[in-house]
Amino acid sequence: MSELDRYAVIGHPVAHSKSPFIHAAFARQTGQKLSYDAVEVLPELLADVLAQLHAEPYQGLNVTLPHKLAVAALCESVSERAKLAGAVNTLVRTASGWAGDNTDGVGFIRDLTVNLGVALAGKRVLLLGAGGAARGLIAPILAERPAELAVSNRNPWKPEELAEQFKALGPIVPRTHLSLKGDRYDLVINATSAGHAGTLPRLPGQIVAEGGVCYDLSYGTAAEPFCAWARAQGAVLSADGLGMLVEQAAAAFEIWRGVRPETAPVLAALRTPEPCGSGASHRHPHPRTTAQD
Ligand SMILES: NC(=O)c1ccc[n+]([C@@H]2O[C@H](COP(=O)([O-])OP(=O)(O)OC[C@H]3O[C@@H](n4cnc5c(N)ncnc54)[C@H](OP(=O)(O)O)[C@@H]3O)[C@@H](O)[C@H]2O)c1
Repeated sequence: MSELDRYAVIGHPVAHSKSPFIHAAFARQTGQKLSYDAVEVLPELLADVLAQLHAEPYQGLNVTLPHKLAVAALCESVSERAKLAGAVNTLVRTASGWAGDNTDGVGFIRDLTVNLGVALAGKRVLLLGAGGAARGLIAPILAERPAELAVSNRNPWKPEELAEQFKALGPIVPRTHLSLKGDRYDLVINATSAGHAGTLPRLPGQIVAEGGVCYDLSYGTAAEPFCAWARAQGAVLSADGLGMLVEQAAAAFEIWRGVRPETAPVLAALRTPEPCGSGASHRHPHPRTTAQD
């Protein structure tokens, strides 16, 4: 057995992942002796690689695209929050396999409420998108007791399904982008992948309430179209998803090591291009800007 406990992120592609940088920083900061790799895994090899990494032995894994859904079926057990999200992003080694968990939802809530100081209780919240990431946010958002959680998506059937699935947890309302016309929201969350194509969902104007906040789960250049839209809509704050990325990693680190790392210095280092060597494509020139600047 290696002297260092071993961890890794698995994905395809995975070379761009910031997780090795984040977890190495957490380990240094907390004095934990561990190694953290990025392992490229083709979808058709997922089951074999999971068995191999268990045998090596790895103590825990992070899971990124495209494996977040498929990996759940390969776990010995799956936490309640991962079942609700329908996706697994964290694996914990057990004697004979892997236990699946999902820290994306808690990572988002912590970034929004603790790092950015935005409370959700009593607020009108609009969630754009109905894919894996959006699904993972619904239960944690409803647990914060918003006045309403509207879910709107390009494919209008998906919000209907999500509203049906989550209606017991709070006031969730299915919407279409067009039907948002005339409504106002205190918080607009972009959980679509449109930014990766350099665009954003087609939305009516004036849906951000006075004093409203916008949050894009994407980061880097993918967050720029939505953040620009948010500024044009008069949002007082527009944030990208880099803080969520660091917070979900911190939650995974705490599950594995029983120690909560400080996230602020790691987020600050990621916002400076040099330390993570991420290059221009991940730079976000105005990660948190005031629309009224
Ligand atoms: N910061 C973090 O830690 C973190 C964690 C997880 C995910 N994310 C980000 O969250 C985003 C969503 O990820 P995901 O896993 O949910 O992806 P996904 O499952 O593939 O879902 C994509 C969603 O985006 C919508 N969409 C795609 N292109 C669009 C367009 N041009 N206009 C309007 N809607 C569009 C899709 O709508 P249809 O249903 O109509 O196709 C769907 O709702 C990605 O940008 C990802 O990088 C960030």
